[in-house]
Amino acid sequence: MAESPLGIQTSALRPGHPDFLDLPWHLSVVAWEGVSPRLERMPVGLSRHPVVFVNYGGRLYACKELPPDIATKEYELLRRMEELRLPVVTPVGYVQVRHQEEEAGVLITRYLDYSLPYHYLFKQPDLARYRDHLMDALAGLLVQLHLAGVYWGDCSLSNTLYRRDAGALQAYLVDAETAEVHGELSTQLRAHDLEIMEENVYGALVDLAAMASLPADFPVNDVGVEIRRRYEALWHEVTRTETVTPEERFRIRDRIRALNTLGFSVDEVELTAVQGGERLRLRAFVADRSFHRDLLQNLTGLDAEETQARQMINEIQELRATLSQKENRSMPLSAAAYRWLNEFYLPIISRLQPLADKNSQPAELYCQLLEHKWYLSERAGRDVGHRAALEDFMRLLSRRAGRRTRG
Ligand SMILES: Nc1ncnc2c1ncn2[C@@H]1O[C@H](COP(=O)(O)OP(=O)(O)O)[C@@H](O)[C@H]1O
Ligand SMILES: [Mg+2]
Repeated sequence: MAESPLGIQTSALRPGHPDFLDLPWHLSVVAWEGVSPRLERMPVGLSRHPVVFVNYGGRLYACKELPPDIATKEYELLRRMEELRLPVVTPVGYVQVRHQEEEAGVLITRYLDYSLPYHYLFKQPDLARYRDHLMDALAGLLVQLHLAGVYWGDCSLSNTLYRRDAGALQAYLVDAETAEVHGELSTQLRAHDLEIMEENVYGALVDLAAMASLPADFPVNDVGVEIRRRYEALWHEVTRTETVTPEERFRIRDRIRALNTLGFSVDEVELTAVQGGERLRLRAFVADRSFHRDLLQNLTGLDAEETQARQMINEIQELRATLSQKENRSMPLSAAAYRWLNEFYLPIISRLQPLADKNSQPAELYCQLLEHKWYLSERAGRDVGHRAALEDFMRLLSRRAGRRTRG
């Protein structure tokens, strides 16, 4: 294909995004600083390849430069993982360019809004409480990938991004270069991924310790081991089989509920007769880990993380129970969701947002209010209600905002 004056040789871009034609493609991304007004400085993790961020009307994109065939491969892999509904950064496209005699590829992904690279969680003292959640998040991500038949090949702290999720964290895969999508993953490949994870996590923590970013007594050796332990526990919980008698059919429903509570949507329940048909072996197959997310999205159109969504769905269910009792008729969940959205969520968010840090995701802000309400209710020994909790929480946010502007 003939070279265009822009420097682009080929590109593939998904619709719904800018065309990126105004970027200085004739230059390597490392030379875009000062040339393109779209460049935006954002926190970035350790990487082999140069990554820059560009801003199109407030929507951010990450551009990573790497050999052309690898850019294409990573783009395809991210697309497949997205189809499998895994938590990965959204692939937008790739561009193949020529810089003098060299060919290069640039992978474009949507910047993961509200995300934090892991070293932020370690370096900022007020984020220390997230470290424990980081272990659950990384273990959970690996379980999700493996259940979907994906071998990662480079599981590490810098190849993941973290989003706050109702006080916990959700991990997202950011680097798919080494991944392989299999139908089903062998025990060996799973074991291999865990070994790589342990080694990489250890390496990253040793580096942080060398930069004096960790407390002196930080258990550098134990974190990878603990992530593996949490991985094994979750893997066992999701994939285990149990035997039930025909009279214990309720246990099928219990099993589905337990998996849903962990966020997994159940695709299929397999029952096999054992012991000459006297007992049934029960095995559940899960589809993805977006059970409450999907439900919340269907009911309200809101986009949230899984734990945030679970808390909001619980509130909607409580509201349905209260209203059904008050109005003496059973109310559909969708009607309760509509009232919850308009009478609680939206008005509360519109009052909290002006006081919050601009990096606060609305759903997380709402969950913080719920946490504050529980805290106040616990202290008062009764439910203090949304209104009182909101007033008190707003005072708290104003004080914090005051500290931010002063400091
Ligand atoms: N879509 C994205 N959203 C937010 N940050 C990103 C995104 N893509 C890359 N990054 C940042 O760039 C870093 C390096 O990306 P990565 O894909 O791991 O590159 P490499 O292949 O060079 O290791 C990540 O750790 C992350 O901080
Ligand atoms: Mg990487």
